[in-house]
Amino acid sequence: MWRDWRNRLLMSPRFQRAAAAFPLTRPLARREARALFDVVAGFVYSQVLLSCVRLGVLERLRDGPLTAAQLLPAETLAPAPAATLLRAAAALELLELRSADRWALGARGAALLGNPGVLAMIEHHALLYADLVDPLAMLRAPRGATALARYWPYAATAEPGQVDSAATRAYTQLMSASQGLVAEEILDAYDVRRHHRVLDVGGGDGTFLRALAQRAPRLQLGLFDLPGVAAQAEERFAAAGLGGRVTIAAGDFDRDPLPPGADLITLVRVLHDHDDERVDRLLAAAYAALPSGGVLLVAEPMAGTQGAERMGDAYFGLYLWAMGSGRPRTAPDLAERLQRAGFRRPRERRTRVPLQTRVLVARRP
Ligand SMILES: C[S@@+](CC[C@H](N)C(=O)[O-])C[C@H]1O[C@@H](n2cnc3c(N)ncnc32)[C@H](O)[C@@H]1O
Repeated sequence: MWRDWRNRLLMSPRFQRAAAAFPLTRPLARREARALFDVVAGFVYSQVLLSCVRLGVLERLRDGPLTAAQLLPAETLAPAPAATLLRAAAALELLELRSADRWALGARGAALLGNPGVLAMIEHHALLYADLVDPLAMLRAPRGATALARYWPYAATAEPGQVDSAATRAYTQLMSASQGLVAEEILDAYDVRRHHRVLDVGGGDGTFLRALAQRAPRLQLGLFDLPGVAAQAEERFAAAGLGGRVTIAAGDFDRDPLPPGADLITLVRVLHDHDDERVDRLLAAAYAALPSGGVLLVAEPMAGTQGAERMGDAYFGLYLWAMGSGRPRTAPDLAERLQRAGFRRPRERRTRVPLQTRVLVARRP
């Protein structure tokens, strides 16, 4: 009831004016106004970022400051719109204006350069934003009628095993590019060296498994993914000189049994892509493939993450809707599904940046 009362107050322009005028409530009123403005303007901010990434603005500043003309020569962008873009990027702390005409990386721009996976995601978001130009049209259309669903061909089909191999290349490269920090987070949260053999289901081209192989040189490695992706994994392991250490199986985890023999199965950024029924079938398949005492590790960004609520239900909620299947799940939702599949004692292992990924582990009795 007090929230209804609060809302009535907040809806009143008189109250808003009074809160902004009164010295004790002014900082709060300003903070709330800024936060609301960011929600209103978020699309503009992300387009400024996309322009900078596409024009290589951040990359060009890697070695130090440049003038506007060096950074964006007239053949790339005329001086007036270039100045508009650079000033916008500076306001977002992507860039800094050091002196009259010396542009440098801002703190956020520098942090982005240290994370090539995020840069790849920013480029990729152009597809999502094209779908979101008319958000209601997207939400009203049959699910899967989007550019993003064509990018992730396994999501909106009843026959993932039939997905054309060529169509898996772009997303597999994107997943590999964005895997670096995720792998480190997972491997710091859970010590995989206590196991003998790991099977990474939906393992993409094996980027996570190769990071794991470095941490645990004695662990035997297995990977399961769709045929086109499994072929890419074979190439990448061979190129890394690890071909002899890994067993790669191709199939559709919704139809084919998972290969047995692993005492650790990992599902990294896999479950959130799928609707509940498919998730429950996959958890049952993982249970069937593990021996008694075997461990299932689930790692993905989760809804309801404290301090990162926007990432879950707002960002992933809309992203996965546009993708054609799946939804962000909370840790308790996933834990309950694990238990229903027969796993015992699902526990969260803390990660340093839960916005990036959280980790749940559960044991087969
Ligand atoms: C979002 S990607 C994550 C890849 C990797 N685990 C990572 O975190 O980088 C999901 C992976 O699941 C695989 N996948 C999706 N549906 C599948 C299915 N029915 N059977 C086997 N693999 C599937 C995809 O090909 C893709 O490699």
